Amino acid sequence: MDKLLIKGGAQLRGNLRVSGSKNSALPILAASLLADGPVTIGNVPHLHDVTTMIELLGCLGVSVLLDEKMRVQVSNADQRAVYAPYELVKTMRASFLVAGPLLARHGVAEVSLPGGCAIGSRPVDQHLKGFAAMGAQIELVDGYVKASVPTRLQGADFTMDLVTVGGTQNLMMAATLAQGQTILRNAAREPEVVDVANFLIALGAKIEGAGTSTLVIDGVDALNGGDYNVMPDRVEAGTYLIAAAATRGRIKLQHAAPQTYTLVLDKLREAGMDVQTGPDWVSLDSHGKQPKAVDIETAEYPGFPTDMQAQFMALNVVAQGASRVVENIFENRFMHVQELMRLGAQIELEGPSTAVVTGVDELHAAPVMATDLRASFSLVIAALAAQGTTQIDRIYHIDRGYETIEEKLTQLGAVVQRIS
Ligand code: EPZ
Repeated sequence: MDKLLIKGGAQLRGNLRVSGSKNSALPILAASLLADGPVTIGNVPHLHDVTTMIELLGCLGVSVLLDEKMRVQVSNADQRAVYAPYELVKTMRASFLVAGPLLARHGVAEVSLPGGCAIGSRPVDQHLKGFAAMGAQIELVDGYVKASVPTRLQGADFTMDLVTVGGTQNLMMAATLAQGQTILRNAAREPEVVDVANFLIALGAKIEGAGTSTLVIDGVDALNGGDYNVMPDRVEAGTYLIAAAATRGRIKLQHAAPQTYTLVLDKLREAGMDVQTGPDWVSLDSHGKQPKAVDIETAEYPGFPTDMQAQFMALNVVAQGASRVVENIFENRFMHVQELMRLGAQIELEGPSTAVVTGVDELHAAPVMATDLRASFSLVIAALAAQGTTQIDRIYHIDRGYETIEEKLTQLGAVVQRIS
């Protein structure tokens, strides 16, 4: 298993172009199943999870090619299969996002139930309730969801019991080809939901209200082909800004879509960082100062993103003062806490979702282990700020969500080496 060796002490400085969003590219690739014509998707990040989704599309009979500009060319001309195997779905939960498109286009979908994952049980009950509301029969057989509709999905007025990004995306995709109008209430407002909606609209879908908590989708008979570029990855952008703040450096991000994580930028300003933004760039300058501790509490968009909780905790670990970090979205997203404490962090857990962090002036290198995607990068941030050389094990977690991490960190002046 690959490891990362990080020699701490360097202040991250320099410019970086933000990659395309993983959490937008994955549902958009799944949504391409809905198109009757060829689809070209640009700005797709080169990540393990994207490769898994492309593999899944291939196994469903979709023709997927990468062109010379790394754009993904998708053609469904011969796409007939409706079976998404456990072997693929278990490695990446987002595979379940093919269920809505398959059900909408073929009237049937047989998709393995995604298992839980390190950060929580992550059920898909809202996805299934929504499909049923649109007239689908749902059976659970041997760990697979078998959804089918005798003729065509029917538009429905459906309220989700809780805000779910994937649930909103799956049901929105299904509704694009349903008979009549679908209203999705209590919908997720994340920018990635808006990006999927914009992609579907580019193919001819009729969707109103993306970015609000009520989506109105008027079903059409078919979606055309089309071209689309995936939005910048706001989690990657925020992660590198936090890393620059934790190492008292300065950074400028291009292609950064600052309007998609304004609360994170405000929290970095609260930490004493000089943050400036332009139409598609963000800069952060710490002026070499130690960050101030800042309380964060995760919430659905536009609240503080759960996907940046672990990274911001690492900032608080080396900040001046004490702070509270509350995780409200997932039930087990504090696995980085024990690992950060091995580096010298002072963190007290108050129950499963609240951590009280007391900032320290120095962290010291120690061997640590990555446990999940975003927790892995919180260890990278702490290692960059620690004295000595830290070894981070199981970094396959990082490769799932951060494109060319060593190159990007090295470009910013970090001393990083991958060892097998
Ligand atoms: C998406 O996951 C993201 N993944 C996650 O990013 C992100 O953390 C999450 O949204 C929340 O913003 C992708 O987009 C590929 P949810 P998703 O459905 O859609 C519960 C990363 O690090 N729930 O909004 O699976 C669920 O258990 C990943 O890039 C139900 O109870 O998240 C969770 O507690 C991690 N029933 C909460 O809702 C359901 O039917 C939010 O889950 C669906 C969800």
